[in-house]
Amino acid sequence: MSTASAPGKIILFGEHAVVYGRPALAVPVTQVQATVTVEAGAEPGVWLEAPDIDLHCFLSAIPADHPLAAAVYHVVAALGVSLPEALKIRIHSTIPVASGLGSGAAVSVALIRALSAFLGQPLPDERVSALAYEVEKIHHGTPSGIDNTVITYARPVYFVKGRPIETFHAGQPFSLVIADTGIPAPTREAVGDVRKLWEAHPEECEKIFDEIGQIADLARQKITSGEWQALGELMDRNHLLLRQLTVSCPALDRLVQAARQAGALGAKLSGGGRGGNMIALIDKENAPAVTEALKSAGARRTIVTQVGEITAG
Ligand code: PMV
Repeated sequence: MSTASAPGKIILFGEHAVVYGRPALAVPVTQVQATVTVEAGAEPGVWLEAPDIDLHCFLSAIPADHPLAAAVYHVVAALGVSLPEALKIRIHSTIPVASGLGSGAAVSVALIRALSAFLGQPLPDERVSALAYEVEKIHHGTPSGIDNTVITYARPVYFVKGRPIETFHAGQPFSLVIADTGIPAPTREAVGDVRKLWEAHPEECEKIFDEIGQIADLARQKITSGEWQALGELMDRNHLLLRQLTVSCPALDRLVQAARQAGALGAKLSGGGRGGNMIALIDKENAPAVTEALKSAGARRTIVTQVGEITAG
Protein backbone atom coordinates (compact mmCIF):
# COMPACT_ATOMS: atom_id res chain seq x y z
CA MET A 1 0.00 0.00 0.00
CA SER A 2 1.19 3.50 -0.74
CA THR A 3 -0.19 6.83 0.53
CA ALA A 4 0.67 10.43 -0.37
CA SER A 5 -0.76 13.80 0.63
CA ALA A 6 -0.54 17.28 -0.85
CA PRO A 7 -1.62 20.64 0.60
CA GLY A 8 -3.92 23.29 -0.79
CA LYS A 9 -2.51 26.60 -1.97
CA ILE A 10 -3.39 30.22 -2.24
CA ILE A 11 -2.10 32.81 -4.69
CA LEU A 12 -0.94 35.96 -2.87
CA PHE A 13 -0.18 38.15 -5.89
CA GLY A 14 -0.04 37.93 -9.66
CA GLU A 15 -2.91 35.66 -10.75
CA HIS A 16 -3.91 36.01 -14.41
CA ALA A 17 -0.84 38.16 -15.26
CA VAL A 18 1.20 35.02 -14.48
CA VAL A 19 -0.37 33.35 -17.52
CA TYR A 20 1.32 36.12 -19.60
CA GLY A 21 4.80 35.61 -18.16
CA ARG A 22 4.65 37.97 -15.19
CA PRO A 23 5.76 36.82 -11.72
CA ALA A 24 3.32 35.60 -9.06
CA LEU A 25 3.59 34.60 -5.41
CA ALA A 26 1.81 31.58 -3.96
CA VAL A 27 1.97 29.71 -0.66
CA PRO A 28 0.83 26.27 0.49
CA VAL A 29 -2.18 26.05 2.81
CA THR A 30 -1.55 23.01 4.97
CA GLN A 31 -4.86 23.19 6.89
CA VAL A 32 -6.44 21.48 3.89
CA GLN A 33 -5.05 18.39 2.16
CA ALA A 34 -5.66 15.84 -0.55
CA THR A 35 -4.70 12.25 0.29
CA VAL A 36 -4.46 9.32 -2.09
CA THR A 37 -3.96 5.66 -1.17
CA VAL A 38 -3.07 3.01 -3.74
CA GLU A 39 -3.27 -0.68 -2.91
CA ALA A 40 -3.78 -4.06 -4.55
CA GLY A 41 -7.42 -4.55 -5.58
CA ALA A 42 -9.72 -7.40 -4.72
CA GLU A 43 -10.99 -7.86 -8.29
CA PRO A 44 -9.54 -7.28 -11.77
CA GLY A 45 -9.44 -3.66 -12.96
CA VAL A 46 -8.53 -0.30 -11.45
CA TRP A 47 -11.17 0.71 -8.91
CA LEU A 48 -11.48 4.43 -8.12
CA GLU A 49 -13.02 5.56 -4.86
CA ALA A 50 -13.49 9.34 -4.47
CA PRO A 51 -16.38 9.84 -2.03
CA ASP A 52 -15.98 13.65 -1.94
CA ILE A 53 -17.06 13.87 -5.57
CA ASP A 54 -19.32 10.82 -5.32
CA LEU A 55 -17.20 8.78 -7.70
CA HIS A 56 -17.07 5.01 -7.20
CA CYS A 57 -16.23 3.21 -10.43
CA PHE A 58 -13.66 1.42 -12.53
CA LEU A 59 -11.09 3.54 -14.37
CA SER A 60 -12.38 2.08 -17.64
CA ALA A 61 -15.80 3.67 -16.97
CA ILE A 62 -14.56 7.28 -17.07
CA PRO A 63 -13.21 9.10 -20.13
CA ALA A 64 -9.42 9.18 -20.62
CA ASP A 65 -9.47 12.97 -20.27
CA HIS A 66 -11.12 12.86 -16.86
CA PRO A 67 -8.49 14.47 -14.57
CA LEU A 68 -8.21 11.35 -12.38
CA ALA A 69 -7.86 9.04 -15.38
CA ALA A 70 -5.38 11.41 -17.00
CA ALA A 71 -3.21 11.43 -13.86
CA VAL A 72 -3.15 7.60 -13.83
CA TYR A 73 -2.33 7.33 -17.55
CA HIS A 74 0.39 10.00 -17.31
CA VAL A 75 2.12 8.08 -14.51
CA VAL A 76 1.95 4.79 -16.40
CA ALA A 77 3.34 6.42 -19.57
CA ALA A 78 6.08 8.26 -17.67
CA LEU A 79 7.23 5.07 -15.92
CA GLY A 80 6.90 2.91 -19.03
CA VAL A 81 5.01 0.20 -17.13
CA SER A 82 1.56 -1.28 -17.39
CA LEU A 83 -0.99 -1.17 -14.61
CA PRO A 84 -1.25 -4.18 -12.32
CA GLU A 85 -4.17 -6.53 -12.87
CA ALA A 86 -6.13 -5.34 -9.83
CA LEU A 87 -5.69 -1.99 -8.18
CA LYS A 88 -7.67 0.19 -5.81
CA ILE A 89 -7.14 3.97 -5.66
CA ARG A 90 -8.79 5.93 -2.85
CA ILE A 91 -8.93 9.73 -3.07
CA HIS A 92 -9.95 11.93 -0.19
CA SER A 93 -9.65 15.70 -0.03
CA THR A 94 -10.56 18.37 2.49
CA ILE A 95 -9.77 21.07 -0.08
CA PRO A 96 -12.98 22.72 -1.31
CA VAL A 97 -13.45 22.20 -5.05
CA ALA A 98 -13.38 25.19 -7.45
CA SER A 99 -12.53 27.70 -4.76
CA GLY A 100 -9.01 28.73 -5.78
CA LEU A 101 -7.34 26.50 -3.20
CA GLY A 102 -5.81 24.17 -5.75
CA SER A 103 -7.92 21.08 -5.10
CA GLY A 104 -7.41 19.69 -8.62
CA ALA A 105 -3.63 20.07 -8.55
CA ALA A 106 -3.40 18.68 -5.00
CA VAL A 107 -5.34 15.53 -5.97
CA SER A 108 -3.11 15.11 -9.03
CA VAL A 109 0.11 15.53 -7.05
CA ALA A 110 -0.98 13.10 -4.32
CA LEU A 111 -2.18 10.57 -6.91
CA ILE A 112 0.99 10.80 -9.02
CA ARG A 113 3.16 10.33 -5.92
CA ALA A 114 1.16 7.48 -4.42
CA LEU A 115 0.81 5.58 -7.70
CA SER A 116 4.44 5.97 -8.78
CA ALA A 117 5.58 4.82 -5.32
CA PHE A 118 3.20 1.84 -5.42
CA LEU A 119 4.63 0.89 -8.82
CA GLY A 120 8.11 0.90 -7.27
CA GLN A 121 9.41 4.04 -9.00
CA PRO A 122 8.65 7.10 -6.86
CA LEU A 123 8.97 10.17 -9.05
CA PRO A 124 11.08 13.19 -8.05
CA ASP A 125 9.32 16.53 -7.41
CA GLU A 126 10.24 17.98 -10.77
CA ARG A 127 8.52 15.15 -12.63
CA VAL A 128 5.55 15.06 -10.26
CA SER A 129 4.99 18.76 -10.94
CA ALA A 130 5.40 18.31 -14.72
CA LEU A 131 2.84 15.48 -14.83
CA ALA A 132 0.41 17.40 -12.61
CA TYR A 133 0.78 20.31 -15.03
CA GLU A 134 -0.40 18.06 -17.88
CA VAL A 135 -3.53 17.28 -15.85
CA GLU A 136 -3.99 20.98 -15.00
CA LYS A 137 -4.42 21.63 -18.71
CA ILE A 138 -7.68 19.69 -18.53
CA HIS A 139 -8.93 21.81 -15.61
CA HIS A 140 -7.77 25.20 -16.86
CA GLY A 141 -7.06 25.20 -20.58
CA THR A 142 -3.87 27.31 -20.52
CA PRO A 143 -2.55 27.09 -16.96
CA SER A 144 0.57 28.96 -15.94
CA GLY A 145 1.78 26.01 -13.85
CA ILE A 146 1.75 27.90 -10.55
CA ASP A 147 -0.71 25.53 -8.82
CA ASN A 148 1.16 22.29 -9.51
CA THR A 149 4.46 23.97 -8.60
CA VAL A 150 3.52 25.41 -5.20
CA ILE A 151 1.60 22.26 -4.27
CA THR A 152 4.36 19.84 -5.31
CA TYR A 153 7.10 21.72 -3.47
CA ALA A 154 4.84 22.76 -0.55
CA ARG A 155 6.81 25.96 -0.05
CA PRO A 156 6.23 29.67 -0.69
CA VAL A 157 6.95 30.11 -4.38
CA TYR A 158 7.95 33.05 -6.56
CA PHE A 159 6.79 31.75 -9.90
CA VAL A 160 7.53 32.83 -13.44
CA LYS A 161 6.21 30.54 -16.18
CA GLY A 162 8.98 28.51 -17.80
CA ARG A 163 11.65 29.44 -15.23
CA PRO A 164 13.10 27.19 -12.54
CA ILE A 165 11.23 27.63 -9.27
CA GLU A 166 12.35 30.15 -6.69
CA THR A 167 11.13 30.12 -3.14
CA PHE A 168 10.87 33.19 -0.91
CA HIS A 169 11.28 33.93 2.77
CA ALA A 170 9.06 35.94 5.06
CA GLY A 171 11.03 38.19 7.44
CA GLN A 172 8.54 37.16 10.12
CA PRO A 173 5.47 34.98 9.79
CA PHE A 174 2.31 36.87 8.88
CA SER A 175 -1.37 36.02 9.01
CA LEU A 176 -3.99 35.85 6.33
CA VAL A 177 -7.70 35.19 6.46
CA ILE A 178 -8.93 33.22 3.47
CA ALA A 179 -12.66 33.60 2.89
CA ASP A 180 -14.80 31.66 0.46
CA THR A 181 -17.65 33.36 -1.42
CA GLY A 182 -19.32 29.96 -1.79
CA ILE A 183 -19.56 30.63 -5.52
CA PRO A 184 -17.64 28.04 -7.58
CA ALA A 185 -14.76 29.89 -9.29
CA PRO A 186 -15.04 29.36 -13.05
CA THR A 187 -11.26 29.61 -13.56
CA ARG A 188 -11.25 28.24 -17.07
CA GLU A 189 -13.90 30.75 -18.16
CA ALA A 190 -12.21 33.68 -16.38
CA VAL A 191 -8.84 32.82 -17.96
CA GLY A 192 -10.57 32.57 -21.37
CA ASP A 193 -12.30 35.93 -20.91
CA VAL A 194 -9.05 37.64 -19.94
CA ARG A 195 -7.55 36.22 -23.13
CA LYS A 196 -10.41 37.70 -25.18
CA LEU A 197 -9.95 41.05 -23.42
CA TRP A 198 -6.20 40.89 -24.14
CA GLU A 199 -6.88 40.09 -27.81
CA ALA A 200 -9.30 43.02 -28.09
CA HIS A 201 -7.22 45.52 -26.05
CA PRO A 202 -3.63 44.26 -26.06
CA GLU A 203 -1.95 47.51 -24.99
CA GLU A 204 -4.25 48.19 -22.04
CA CYS A 205 -4.00 44.59 -20.84
CA GLU A 206 -0.22 44.45 -21.18
CA LYS A 207 -0.04 47.59 -19.03
CA ILE A 208 -2.20 45.96 -16.36
CA PHE A 209 -0.13 42.75 -16.48
CA ASP A 210 3.07 44.82 -16.16
CA GLU A 211 1.76 46.59 -13.09
CA ILE A 212 0.59 43.34 -11.51
CA GLY A 213 4.06 41.87 -12.15
CA GLN A 214 5.70 44.89 -10.52
CA ILE A 215 3.37 44.51 -7.55
CA ALA A 216 4.37 40.85 -7.18
CA ASP A 217 8.06 41.82 -7.19
CA LEU A 218 7.51 44.62 -4.67
CA ALA A 219 5.37 42.34 -2.50
CA ARG A 220 8.18 39.80 -2.34
CA GLN A 221 10.47 42.56 -0.98
CA LYS A 222 7.89 43.74 1.55
CA ILE A 223 7.34 40.17 2.76
CA THR A 224 11.09 39.76 3.22
CA SER A 225 11.46 43.05 5.09
CA GLY A 226 8.22 42.65 7.07
CA GLU A 227 6.59 45.89 5.86
CA TRP A 228 3.01 44.80 6.38
CA GLN A 229 1.31 48.15 5.87
CA ALA A 230 2.91 48.47 2.45
CA LEU A 231 2.09 44.84 1.66
CA GLY A 232 -1.58 45.50 2.45
CA GLU A 233 -1.62 48.48 0.10
CA LEU A 234 -0.18 46.30 -2.66
CA MET A 235 -3.00 43.80 -2.12
CA ASP A 236 -5.59 46.57 -2.47
CA ARG A 237 -4.00 47.80 -5.69
CA ASN A 238 -3.73 44.26 -7.09
CA HIS A 239 -7.44 43.74 -6.42
CA LEU A 240 -8.29 46.91 -8.33
CA LEU A 241 -6.25 45.73 -11.32
CA LEU A 242 -7.98 42.34 -11.22
CA ARG A 243 -11.31 44.17 -11.28
CA GLN A 244 -10.13 45.96 -14.41
CA LEU A 245 -9.45 42.54 -15.92
CA THR A 246 -13.14 41.74 -15.17
CA VAL A 247 -12.37 38.81 -12.88
CA SER A 248 -13.88 40.11 -9.66
CA CYS A 249 -17.60 39.89 -8.84
CA PRO A 250 -19.96 41.57 -6.35
CA ALA A 251 -19.52 38.83 -3.73
CA LEU A 252 -15.70 39.12 -3.86
CA ASP A 253 -15.83 42.92 -3.76
CA ARG A 254 -18.17 42.77 -0.76
CA LEU A 255 -15.81 40.49 1.18
CA VAL A 256 -12.76 42.57 0.27
CA GLN A 257 -14.54 45.71 1.47
CA ALA A 258 -15.76 44.07 4.69
CA ALA A 259 -12.26 42.84 5.56
CA ARG A 260 -10.76 46.29 5.07
CA GLN A 261 -13.47 47.94 7.15
CA ALA A 262 -12.84 45.45 9.96
CA GLY A 263 -9.19 46.44 10.12
CA ALA A 264 -7.41 44.21 7.59
CA LEU A 265 -4.24 45.81 6.23
CA GLY A 266 -5.26 44.91 2.69
CA ALA A 267 -7.42 42.46 0.77
CA LYS A 268 -7.83 41.01 -2.68
CA LEU A 269 -9.42 38.17 -4.58
CA SER A 270 -7.20 35.13 -4.97
CA GLY A 271 -7.00 32.72 -7.90
CA GLY A 272 -9.18 32.70 -10.99
CA GLY A 273 -11.87 34.98 -9.49
CA ARG A 274 -15.59 35.54 -10.20
CA GLY A 275 -16.14 33.43 -7.11
CA GLY A 276 -13.88 31.25 -5.01
CA ASN A 277 -11.73 32.87 -2.35
CA MET A 278 -10.40 36.21 -1.29
CA ILE A 279 -7.54 36.86 1.12
CA ALA A 280 -7.03 39.55 3.73
CA LEU A 281 -3.78 40.49 5.47
CA ILE A 282 -4.31 40.84 9.22
CA ASP A 283 -2.58 41.41 12.52
CA LYS A 284 -3.02 38.17 14.42
CA GLU A 285 -5.08 39.87 17.15
CA ASN A 286 -7.43 41.17 14.45
CA ALA A 287 -8.31 37.69 13.22
CA PRO A 288 -11.59 37.31 15.18
CA ALA A 289 -12.94 40.74 14.11
CA VAL A 290 -12.03 40.28 10.43
CA THR A 291 -13.34 36.71 10.39
CA GLU A 292 -16.63 37.85 11.96
CA ALA A 293 -16.98 40.70 9.46
CA LEU A 294 -16.33 38.34 6.56
CA LYS A 295 -18.96 35.90 7.79
CA SER A 296 -21.50 38.74 8.19
CA ALA A 297 -20.69 39.83 4.64
CA GLY A 298 -21.56 36.37 3.35
CA ALA A 299 -18.37 34.28 3.57
CA ARG A 300 -19.25 30.58 3.61
CA ARG A 301 -16.01 29.48 5.24
CA THR A 302 -12.89 31.17 6.56
CA ILE A 303 -9.40 29.85 7.21
CA VAL A 304 -6.77 31.77 9.17
CA THR A 305 -3.33 30.77 7.97
CA GLN A 306 0.22 31.75 8.89
CA VAL A 307 2.65 32.37 6.06
CA GLY A 308 6.36 32.05 6.56
CA GLU A 309 6.53 29.31 9.12
CA ILE A 310 7.99 27.05 6.50
CA THR A 311 11.47 28.38 5.79
CA ALA A 312 12.39 27.94 2.19
CA GLY A 313 15.79 27.02 0.84
O1 PMV B 1 -8.27 29.48 -9.57
P1 PMV B 1 -6.89 29.04 -9.23
O2 PMV B 1 -6.49 29.31 -7.82
O3 PMV B 1 -6.50 27.69 -9.69
O4 PMV B 1 -5.88 30.04 -9.93
C1 PMV B 1 -5.82 30.31 -11.27
C2 PMV B 1 -4.69 31.24 -11.45
C3 PMV B 1 -4.66 31.92 -12.79
O5 PMV B 1 -3.53 32.79 -12.78
C4 PMV B 1 -5.91 32.72 -13.02
C5 PMV B 1 -4.51 30.89 -13.91
C6 PMV B 1 -3.15 30.21 -13.95
O6 PMV B 1 -3.08 29.18 -14.62
O7 PMV B 1 -2.18 30.71 -13.38
